[in-house]
Amino acid sequence: MQIERLLQQQGFGTRKGCRSLVRHGRFAIQGQVIEDPFLDIDPIGLKFTVDEQEWPYFEKAVVLFHKPAGYECSRKPKHHPGIYTLLPSQFVERDIQSVGRLDEDTTGLLIMTDDGQLIHSLSSPKRKVPKVYRVTVRHPLDEPQRQALLAGVMLNDDPDPAHAVAAEIVDSHTLLLTITEGRYHQVKRMLAAVSNRVEALCRVAVGGLELPADLPPGQWRWLEAADLERLWSKSP
Ligand code: URA
Repeated sequence: MQIERLLQQQGFGTRKGCRSLVRHGRFAIQGQVIEDPFLDIDPIGLKFTVDEQEWPYFEKAVVLFHKPAGYECSRKPKHHPGIYTLLPSQFVERDIQSVGRLDEDTTGLLIMTDDGQLIHSLSSPKRKVPKVYRVTVRHPLDEPQRQALLAGVMLNDDPDPAHAVAAEIVDSHTLLLTITEGRYHQVKRMLAAVSNRVEALCRVAVGGLELPADLPPGQWRWLEAADLERLWSKSP
């Protein structure tokens, strides 16, 4: 693939802009500056630098983002800054999107990708991908609440009950709740349905993929083939 095309595909701007970037000596492979934008290179497994920052080549970008509180997942946020302001401009250029959305005050694991097929299959209710939330609640938790969440609770205006596939009381005010759907404000509404109230919400896992303990809020990392397998490892 020609370097200028590769850079454009990886989100470094227009073809013309990428051509100029290379001609200005800003592109290198293994420390060697290449100034010919038309040079053909094999992109598979490639690592390159632009302005000395290293980038791996990925035909489709898939990243794990630790969403901080105070950010909206929307591309056109209304009341708070958007998560896209926390990501490299290359991702925005590639039209990377979040798989589903977390509320502005929810933190935790968000998968972001420009792979439309992956977005579709991860969001499909048929795939039943489990999502695990660490829920901090206002009132003490008890066994009847846990049982009700597992049995299914009615949410306003929703004819079908919403139920958890797992619910573990960690301590009096902390619950690990696993759901496979993604209805609007689902966890908050489920806790309200058992007369409790969510005080803080963090998504700690999607499928078999956990939020890495060493990834601070606002940071992201690439997901590679083994991580993607983990994503599906808990689906039926
Ligand atoms: N459920 C909620 O209520 N909010 C979220 O952000 C995610 C799940």
